[in-house]
Amino acid sequence: MSRHDITLRINGRRCSASVEARTTLIDFLRDGLDLTGSHVGCEQGVCGACSVLLDGEPVRSCLMFAVQADGRGIVTVEGLDDGGGLSVLQDAFWETHGLQCGYCTPGMLIAAEALLRGNPDPDDDDIREAIAGNICRCTGYGQIIDAVRLAAARLNQRAGT
Ligand code: FES
Ligand code: FES
Repeated sequence: MSRHDITLRINGRRCSASVEARTTLIDFLRDGLDLTGSHVGCEQGVCGACSVLLDGEPVRSCLMFAVQADGRGIVTVEGLDDGGGLSVLQDAFWETHGLQCGYCTPGMLIAAEALLRGNPDPDDDDIREAIAGNICRCTGYGQIIDAVRLAAARLNQRAGT
């Protein structure tokens, strides 16, 4: 069984580990590091529940091997909080009922975070496009779009724009 030493930054912290070549990034995060916020859904790159930011870009962690993240920066849903409290985005999801069962929520938050980092003032089509690769079986998506719109408005208000 081939193992590899990897070093990466996860949620701002340096992390070194020895992983099997076959270990997916989602399994490494959940089983190796106990970062269980990212969910496993389809394991085929379809549902988006396992999404994380890789050097700022959303990726499906079920489709990557942990060794491919060597030297990179990963942000999981655990890294989105606001220094211990809910972030503006997370709070907006709570306020608008942007979740029901919550299974899709980590991936939705990652997709929305990536959008807002690159486009602070998205319209509804921008939001729909950003979350188009994430499947939600509960909400009908409307409240998720409301949440991202609300978060954008609050972040812009906070920034004074
Ligand atoms: Fe990775 Fe569905 S579990 S995309
Ligand atoms: Fe249940 Fe989205 S809230 S899948």
